[in-house]
Amino acid sequence: MNMVLLGPPGAGKGTQAGFLTTAYDLLHVSTGDMLRETVKEDSKTGREIAEYMNRGELVADSIVTRAVIERMSRPDAGAGVILDGYPRTRTQAESLDRSLKESGKSLDVVFYFKTSEDVAIRRLSGRRVCENCGRNYHVVNMPPSKDGVCDICGEKLFQREDDRPETVKNRLFVYGESTEDLIEYYRASGLLREVNGDTPAEELFEEIKALLLKESLI
Ligand code: AP5
Repeated sequence: MNMVLLGPPGAGKGTQAGFLTTAYDLLHVSTGDMLRETVKEDSKTGREIAEYMNRGELVADSIVTRAVIERMSRPDAGAGVILDGYPRTRTQAESLDRSLKESGKSLDVVFYFKTSEDVAIRRLSGRRVCENCGRNYHVVNMPPSKDGVCDICGEKLFQREDDRPETVKNRLFVYGESTEDLIEYYRASGLLREVNGDTPAEELFEEIKALLLKESLI
């Protein structure tokens, strides 16, 4: 099964992708995580990417698409992927369709997490991420058992650079500008399933599982 998770920053795409990969044998492909890994390498490309991300702007389609397609061609993507944060524009969606077609694959479902702006802002300002395994927490909604420490691997939690209020504002603006066309693209394809991103995480996961079951995808 190949699935896309679509929604604004803070909608809970990464959180649901985590639940889904734990429950099913699917590969989680997060373009945000992939780009953050490249930034860590401190190369020229990494520094350019960091500038875009820290301003809350989109990284060039060509860079992101190449990375996703390469990742999806590896053997561990064989059972299916959860695309989190990709595609983000209609151009990216068209590139993805072409690439899937060339490899004899297709998309099965696109979940659109419709989320209110104040909920997204509250979530991003309280998000903490494990620097080792990448697990997400929230200081109020989903706190770790021990303050500042990951429940899974015991490593330290940090706040993402682009979760600062000015950057969050721009990320939400950029999302609003680039996504409408993308949502229409998937609505027209018949693959779009809209869910309420404001719903508590565990409850939303149950809803997603029920939808997957109804469509015989699990
Ligand atoms: P990326 O890392 O993809 O960020 P994003 O899309 O802005 O999404 P987030 O990771 O902020 O939010 P999320 O929806 O995953 O929410 P999460 O589950 O973490 O992208 C970062 C940047 O990279 C972009 O700005 C851009 O520059 C670049 N980029 C990435 N992809 C690109 C592309 N395709 N093209 C070009 N550029 C690209 O949850 C947030 C918080 O809320 C957490 O604390 C969590 O614990 C909590 N929470 C989650 N769900 C719930 C819930 N249901 N109830 C209560 N709390 C919840």
